Amino acid sequence: MGDFNQEVDMSEMFKVPEQLRAKAHVKSMEEYQTMYKASIEDPETFWGDMARGFHWETPFTKVGPTFNFDRAKGPVHMSWFDGGKTNIAYNCLDRNVERGLGDRIAIHYECNDMDDQHASFSYTQVLEMVCKFANALKAEGVTKGDRVSIYLPMTVELPAAMLACARIGAVHSVVFGGFSADALAGRIVDAQSKVVITADGVMRATKPVQLKSITDKACQLAEAQGFKVERVVCVGRLKGTPYADQVKHDWVEGRDVWCSDFIGSQPATCAVEWVASEDPLFMLYTSGSTGRPKGVLHTTAGYMLGTFATMKYVFDYQMEDTFFCTADCGWITGHSYITYGPMLNGATQVLFEGVPTHPEVDRFWKICAKYKVTTFYTAPTAIRALMKSGEEPVTRNDLSSLRLLGSVGEPINPEAWKWYHRVVGGGRCAIADTYWQTETGSHLLAPLVGAVDCKPGSACFPFFGVEVAILDDKGVELEGECSGNLVLKRPPPSMMRSLYGDHARFEEAYFSQFNGYYFTGDGCKRDKDGYYWLTGRMDDVINVSGHRIGTAEVESALVAFSKVAEAAVVGFPHDIKGEGIYCYVTLNEGEEYDDALKPKLKAQVREMIGAFATPDEIHWAPGLPKTRSGKIMRRVLRKIALPDYLTQDLGDTSTLADPSVVDVLKANHPRAA
Ligand code: PRX
Repeated sequence: MGDFNQEVDMSEMFKVPEQLRAKAHVKSMEEYQTMYKASIEDPETFWGDMARGFHWETPFTKVGPTFNFDRAKGPVHMSWFDGGKTNIAYNCLDRNVERGLGDRIAIHYECNDMDDQHASFSYTQVLEMVCKFANALKAEGVTKGDRVSIYLPMTVELPAAMLACARIGAVHSVVFGGFSADALAGRIVDAQSKVVITADGVMRATKPVQLKSITDKACQLAEAQGFKVERVVCVGRLKGTPYADQVKHDWVEGRDVWCSDFIGSQPATCAVEWVASEDPLFMLYTSGSTGRPKGVLHTTAGYMLGTFATMKYVFDYQMEDTFFCTADCGWITGHSYITYGPMLNGATQVLFEGVPTHPEVDRFWKICAKYKVTTFYTAPTAIRALMKSGEEPVTRNDLSSLRLLGSVGEPINPEAWKWYHRVVGGGRCAIADTYWQTETGSHLLAPLVGAVDCKPGSACFPFFGVEVAILDDKGVELEGECSGNLVLKRPPPSMMRSLYGDHARFEEAYFSQFNGYYFTGDGCKRDKDGYYWLTGRMDDVINVSGHRIGTAEVESALVAFSKVAEAAVVGFPHDIKGEGIYCYVTLNEGEEYDDALKPKLKAQVREMIGAFATPDEIHWAPGLPKTRSGKIMRRVLRKIALPDYLTQDLGDTSTLADPSVVDVLKANHPRAA
């Protein structure tokens, strides 16, 4: 991924569109700098004033941040808004109704099919739905601190279920609907969720996704691991539609209940559970460089402020805006910029169930035209894929309502940035490349679009309250123009607080590399003008179509296949997906290397993780390049995975236990065929 930035012109600049500046919350670089300085030097006033716009049942006594990133000084911890009690669902819904926004559309739900039952929900309607859901969860015995797993498609029930949990102080754990039964089971067991909320299924383009049947299997797998799911709430998404017979699933009496029955007779009001600022709000699993996925834990008040503030300032949210974030609520982007950030601002947004290419490649643009979207937020992988279809699918739609385009999830190459700007934005929109992580909860680096001139491919500058640094490999802070490891010296309020149930792993995973700093795992350059340029992950995490995948997870799925002795997985640059998944596989002694096995191995990964993690390439490796101490030299494997592997300089291979394995790998290269 770092390659994108090698040929980048770091001096190319796109000025702030003047019509945007005129109305923006922050109108100049000087204003941004003044506010940034205030956020760092006097967070008490900066964040305190902003926070007081929300409802606090009990006011906070201290803003913060109160934190320790230095393990030598004691456990790593962070807290904000100590002493306060609030509720994020109340601030997303009741507060907006109280300030007269009850009839305002909160969500335009756009279905997979163009001619399906699209619907729009006002803030009052979402509030009622959430209250019914919350009452039903309470009746089920779910109380404060209990975890609820949510495995839903992008229907309005998904944010509603999340907000219902938040309303009663339960902790939601949303699992992306593309994960397999194995992956879902692991997450249910880790979170110990007695209640799982799912749907019968959903159509994605023309294919059904068997959510309930996958949930059934996940419950069985969980039970085999000693954990029993007591209640499965099933949204009848396809029930009663022409697609009903596309999904097949079991029905376990006593465990399963249709969502309509579950919430049907519940009252439409529900008392709020007031929670402490640092009470957990949700957990969300993400991939790291080692082993099993990590349950990133976010708490209430800081997350509320972080998502509110970035929505307001980075997307320069104005009352007349219509926001469309194309992410799924199964990922952090959907949490922060569908469920929470927009609702905290009282925004109107589009929730899209389908895919960008159904029924045609202009679906995103059709939606933008239909709802007069002003602010559109997507991932570079989608932009690159849509670029392939040319300009006409974009320009045949009226996109004159757009004023701001966002990008997230992976580095955006300047070519895609400029296409986005010129073709989608008609040359008049601002582009906000937003860099952040599941762990940070909201944007770390992003331009404030009314204030900052952008450089294509750069996420520009830190957001308020965020203090970043670039360190060399020894942990020394670099000044001025430099390149190295991106760390946080001071976290945004929305920063994760721990890994669910494993604080030791949290400290080890993020705070052991550089004492006193949070390590993002990303490489970064700072240019002479102070702009930041992300260069890709420094660890064994790859970013495939904006989905974060640990190479170790793919490796363990491969070695779970009976014939496989060993596997090593690396990323390689992919035109559309950003990175592709390249697997070196060694079979057990006596097994035959037969290409007919490759689809089976791919299916194995799909089954254990999900379709989005399907390997692109499998390379038979009778031997892997290892040092004498048995460590796999991934550096060499990354180079052999490149299309021009024959001319790559593999560097020093003299420390390999058996240098001849490199020649064998070159000789049976899948790209040679
Ligand atoms: O490597 C960075 C990349 O995505 C990682 C975080 O992935 P995840 O937790 O799944 O969150 C994705 C959505 C926030 C980061 O460590 N990344 C994310 N946004 C950008 C990015 N890389 C470059 N530029 C970005 N704008």
